[in-house]
Amino acid sequence: MNILVTGGAGFIGSHTVIELYAAGHTAVVADNLSNSCQESLRRAAQIIGTDTIPFYNVDIRDKAGLQEIFEQHTIDACIHFAGLKAVGESVSKPWEYYDNNIHGTLTLIDALRQHGCKRMIFSSSATVYGEPAEIPITENCPKGTCTNPYGWTKSMLEQILTDLYHSDSAWNIVLLRYFNPIGAHPSGMIGENPNGTPNNLMPYITQVAIGQRPELGIFGNDYPTPDGTGVRDYTHVVDLAKGHVSALSAIERGCGLAIYNLGTGKGYSVLDVVSAFEKASGVKIPYRIKPRRAGDIATCYSDPSKAEKELGWKALNGIEEMCRDSWNWQKKNPAGYICTEQK
Ligand code: NAD
Ligand code: UFG
Repeated sequence: MNILVTGGAGFIGSHTVIELYAAGHTAVVADNLSNSCQESLRRAAQIIGTDTIPFYNVDIRDKAGLQEIFEQHTIDACIHFAGLKAVGESVSKPWEYYDNNIHGTLTLIDALRQHGCKRMIFSSSATVYGEPAEIPITENCPKGTCTNPYGWTKSMLEQILTDLYHSDSAWNIVLLRYFNPIGAHPSGMIGENPNGTPNNLMPYITQVAIGQRPELGIFGNDYPTPDGTGVRDYTHVVDLAKGHVSALSAIERGCGLAIYNLGTGKGYSVLDVVSAFEKASGVKIPYRIKPRRAGDIATCYSDPSKAEKELGWKALNGIEEMCRDSWNWQKKNPAGYICTEQK
């Protein structure tokens, strides 16, 4: 299939483009480069062994820009990664988050249906479960109260896509709820490229390891977890990327509306991740315990068995591989990508 990948220059998108080609699909990327560089796609093309990956510097809120893509390509399905994702920033800029993520997705949906393409995979998040009602979290766990506008955009977009499907069953839509993507392509050529101070744990750890930051702050050690630090279901980005290929097969089979957790089913504390990283890298990570971060929950890990049963997808990489590959990427690219294009 030929897949429109919105946000395909970003962290998860660029890894997914590689897995799409590996599975015999092709991709057309639409990204406004607000949080990425085209360099990720140049490198993805090298890994794939293709000259170029068709790329449009387009904002998904731009109707005419999307129209041009559909005029030039036959699109069989869309994998929709494009969105703003910084939790803290969403609290100070809610309008920008609702405009980008919700208005953007509505514009994209309209373009898709006008061109008769009613197949979408949507990047959702474990954040929609809020303070989860059960651990491990199955897809039957009710959605919860989000603690920030970013989380609400995911929750609302899931509802919008669900309502769309109920109004028109010609749509096939897969909502993928990701659990803490980390790691990088094993080549070390592509990886996560945070802007400014990282919000997330793994990029912060790798920046401490490379000497860019003096120490890691651990946000709380008084949670009701085995060592008091927050527990999460870290998932290798390459496994996550492959999950999209499996979801595409479900779409081809006519899955209707389907929801899957993409996680490993294992929970690791912040201290577990620090020691796994030290073991994988041989680098000591100095840390200091800090107050809890507003909006954080104690424990969040998935029951991923639905994805295994229905999609045949299972995360194959463990925390060792995740730490190894995050470190390999950081070592080979101490300053991330060097962006050459104008923002
Ligand atoms: P990312 O920021 O690396 O990638 C998102 C891409 O979308 C970027 O390349 C950005 O330039 C692009 N983009 C943003 N707004 C756009 C717009 N209006 N038009 C066109 N392009 C636009 O983030 P990622 O980590 O790869 O995340 C991909 C998706 O997965 C996002 O929707 C994110 O919310 C979701 N998600 C991420 C995580 C995570 O921890 N990384 C967890 C759960 C869900
Ligand atoms: N943490 C620290 N220090 C840091 C960064 C994080 O101690 O510098 C801790 C957090 O308190 C938490 C754990 O490390 O206990 C993981 O934090 P992250 O920020 O890496 O990830 P979150 O679980 O908070 O959230 C991430 C994304 C969300 C997404 C969610 C589920 O940021 O957008 O995973 O996929 F919704």
